[in-house]
Amino acid sequence: EKQGFRHFMAKEIYEQPAVVRTCLEAYLDLDWTPGSNKSPFKLDLPESIYKDLENIQIVACGTSLHAGMIGKYLLEELAQIPTAIQYASEFRYSPPPLTPNTLTIGITQSGETADTLAAVEIEQSRRKDKEPKYYSRLLAVTNRTDSAITRVVDCVIDTHAGMEIGVAATKTFMGQLMAFYFLSLDLAHRRGTITVDRMAEIITGLKVLPSQIEVILETQEKYIEELSHSFLETRDAIFLGRGINFPIALEGALKLKEISYIHAEGYPSGEMKHGPIALLDAKVPVIAITMPGKVYEKAVSNAQEAKARDSHLYGVVAASDKDAAEIFDKVLPVPDVDELLSPVLTVIPMQLMSYHIAAMRGLDVDQPRNLAKSVTVE
Ligand code: BG6
Repeated sequence: EKQGFRHFMAKEIYEQPAVVRTCLEAYLDLDWTPGSNKSPFKLDLPESIYKDLENIQIVACGTSLHAGMIGKYLLEELAQIPTAIQYASEFRYSPPPLTPNTLTIGITQSGETADTLAAVEIEQSRRKDKEPKYYSRLLAVTNRTDSAITRVVDCVIDTHAGMEIGVAATKTFMGQLMAFYFLSLDLAHRRGTITVDRMAEIITGLKVLPSQIEVILETQEKYIEELSHSFLETRDAIFLGRGINFPIALEGALKLKEISYIHAEGYPSGEMKHGPIALLDAKVPVIAITMPGKVYEKAVSNAQEAKARDSHLYGVVAASDKDAAEIFDKVLPVPDVDELLSPVLTVIPMQLMSYHIAAMRGLDVDQPRNLAKSVTVE
């Protein structure tokens, strides 16, 4: 059932192009053209979700939280809706003051995570007896349409990733990202916060993502497997990213902790000088995501500060980036892509790195110590 792969995690990393294709078919009218006056999106959510919508709040844990952080960026950038995100475990005991006309989104691949379920339930119960503008609107983004969270919420976006066995989430994260691209585009389209040209551009970009992921898997996997040997003695690592790629730095660090047992921290690149820079020396590698876009120059100069501290510097960069070989000790190129879509590609080298480092160290990749696929206790 591993279909020739050594671990489920590897199989699931390779299933990601198919997850994106399935989500495109499910949520996008593939015949849509910019001239059409119909919506290109087919999310099938009730009108009550959209009516007078003013605010969004997202609750989740772990990798799902990182998908939500990218979701916040997309909802604010594309649909111009103020979006808050909180760890579900924090939200349940310290929920923020009620805001009117608010959509609450719980993200959980399993649909069973106790903290996420509780956060969504609390939101529903504390809004129950209020005036109508405070009524709860609850949406779940999940990979299990038969799970506990689906019985609490008003509606669901299915992430269509298929069963995920590896404890460290990979393909379900990809499905969650797709859910947020389509939700934020759908909202942007309805609210008139995006031009048809920009929408068409992003849709075109979304359609080529599956083949771009395949390019990374085909061209980078062997190289990353070789690189993993330089992490044999590594005890600490720092991941840096800015803007929409900051959550990918967090995800890279989480993956390295979860399955490789290497202490890793993800930081917004610009924050490194305010503390973590003190940790850097030749023993602490830095993995920086520096994709073309509005934060490119800043992210590069942040990465160079790390090199000045003797850290071995890895760069996740665009294939067309001619300067990368000079800036970084090792370059992990991904195909050129719209900045807004780039997390879909930059996460792939993160997954491959943690996978190969864990496999090289002989660790139980699919069942890391102390972790469970679905955490139904508080
Ligand atoms: C953790 C898993 O315990 O639960 C993480 O180890 C996962 O990989 C997190 O991201 C949240 O799970 P779920 O099912 O709510 O997305």
